[in-house]
Amino acid sequence: MSSKDLHGEVFYPSEEVVKNANVPDWDALQKEAGEDYEKFWGKRAEELHWFKKWDKVLDDSDKPFYKWFTGGKTNIAYNCLDVHVKTHRRNKLALIWEGENGDMRMLSYYRLHRETCKFANVLRSLGVSKGDRVTIYMGRTPEIVMAMLACARIGAIHSVVYGGFSVEALHERIEDSKSKVLIVSDGAYLRGKIVPLKQIADEALKRAGGIEHVLVVKRTGQDINMEDGRDLWLHELMALPIATQNCALEITDAEDPLFMLYTSGTTGKPKAILHTHGGYMVGTYTTLKYVFDIKEEDRYWCAADPGWITGHSYIVYGPLLNGATSFMYEGAPTHPYPNRWWNLVEKYGINILYTAPTAIRGLMRFGDAWVNRHDLSSLRLLGSVGEPINPEAWKWYYKVVGNEKCPIMDTWWQTETGMFMITPMPSVPLKPGSGTKPFPGIEMDIFDENGNPVKDNEEGYLVIKTPWPAMIRTIYNDPDRYVEQYWKKYPGVYMTGDSAKRDEDGYIWVIGRVDDVIKVSGYRLGTAEIESALVSHPSVAEAAAIGLPHEVKGNAIYTYVILKQGVEPTEELKETLKNHVGHEVGPIAKPQQIKFVDSLPKTRSGKIMRRVLKAKELGVDPGNLSTLDES
Ligand code: WTA
Repeated sequence: MSSKDLHGEVFYPSEEVVKNANVPDWDALQKEAGEDYEKFWGKRAEELHWFKKWDKVLDDSDKPFYKWFTGGKTNIAYNCLDVHVKTHRRNKLALIWEGENGDMRMLSYYRLHRETCKFANVLRSLGVSKGDRVTIYMGRTPEIVMAMLACARIGAIHSVVYGGFSVEALHERIEDSKSKVLIVSDGAYLRGKIVPLKQIADEALKRAGGIEHVLVVKRTGQDINMEDGRDLWLHELMALPIATQNCALEITDAEDPLFMLYTSGTTGKPKAILHTHGGYMVGTYTTLKYVFDIKEEDRYWCAADPGWITGHSYIVYGPLLNGATSFMYEGAPTHPYPNRWWNLVEKYGINILYTAPTAIRGLMRFGDAWVNRHDLSSLRLLGSVGEPINPEAWKWYYKVVGNEKCPIMDTWWQTETGMFMITPMPSVPLKPGSGTKPFPGIEMDIFDENGNPVKDNEEGYLVIKTPWPAMIRTIYNDPDRYVEQYWKKYPGVYMTGDSAKRDEDGYIWVIGRVDDVIKVSGYRLGTAEIESALVSHPSVAEAAAIGLPHEVKGNAIYTYVILKQGVEPTEELKETLKNHVGHEVGPIAKPQQIKFVDSLPKTRSGKIMRRVLKAKELGVDPGNLSTLDES
């Protein structure tokens, strides 16, 4: 079947799925939320614990700096842990973990709460208090969850840097956030090797000031450098009397910052997206409950990395707020063989699996036999995120992995939205490749250049017209950029940076980014980061990066480099430059291709016209060239 045929196909949920769903009647929920979305969110917020109830659900007196649940007092970590420890969930597993090397750990709510409190006391003993920033740079182990929750518990603001990023990316983020403490693991297992996280951090810290202490988590145990007075082992501090399990909770305002997470934007440096305790909590709690239909007995696995928003919202906060049992796996899906994931699903009896199209395509390549060796009958729901899912991958996921009985939740959202925005629920009929409709209470549209809604099946800019609780509050330290990036093109309307179409049934089909963001294997990278990494090499004068379609990764990075005078354009230099980008930004940013060129297409004001490069590679019409400088 071609992808075109499949686009027209509708997959209806079984009666059983609908009957058992947390939301059996989507239309009723939509009606309730559509009539009064403030009331709708207020009601959901009541399911969580507040030390003092809010005065106002939504305060829009200073648009676009929206505030939610103002006057309310809470703490998201308290809702993730303390609340459950006081109930029958005390002994329930909060986290099941398997390392790539086969290590295994299981933590009950009681245990996770205890470890987090001890961790929080360690942070306090290092002088961390409310409002301080803490950078976290770790592999996927339970300690990353504890580190985040420990920060939240004492009102510190965490800034997690994905473990796949490297020296310059880490340096930039530490410096911009003005973090006091860095939490790092000695290393992480990946594809049978060790990623030397502490070593990378040491190099980054040579470039950045401001970090007073480095707290080191022992995972891999290889020899590392420990700097006297600065670097401390977590396990040593956790054994001291300061690390008691009684840790006074910081009661936070709903609008107190919870975390910042750096992400790539249209231009320049990565920006720190700021989220807060109250609204983010309500948003992630509600969306996970309704979309992934969390039940008490479920074992839920979000295979993302905690270092990205998907991990923040749907590995750490959303599942714990719901009192769910989450599974976390440290390593690569194909290590040691391409059945590792399927083995994990069988072994741990996973009911819900949430991953990215790139992972599905990657595993699909190895054929059905690897999947079919395993009993995956525990699965009842699947999920997809990060980029549009092509119908072939959707169908394979649905048939081979889900045995045609698991609805696929294709969730569209962003670091900035904090929570699912366009998504089905299990009771909603699906069309492969579409995330269906906006979550109840959220109004979205597709605009043309002038801000008019486009007709059905016409492409335009995807925008959000109503505020939502988990929305970005600002860009940390750069409120002007926040207004400029998201609210300027269409005043009063949030600009997503994506293009999309809507069909005659109201289903939205996201096409992709319209700015200089490249989604590589679901990871969000900016052309500017790759370009500045290239230019930081002594042989490079100028560089441009674009994304071109790639069968597994979704997009691959192609770069164009003008060398400094006298530098010889050799194949070896290409490899050197690729490795240089890997060293500075991270392995995920390594260009697929480097082309040496004499000039780059630019506008008269000197901006690189990436769409011209892209059109040339794809052999398509580059469109309007009136601004091209031909001199
Ligand atoms: C893309 C990831 C199509 C989109 C949660 C968005 C998607 C960007 C989907 C945000 C999806 C995410 N279908 N495209 N289901 N989910 N995207 O901030 O381009 O890393 O703007 O957040 O990913 O990426 P981010």
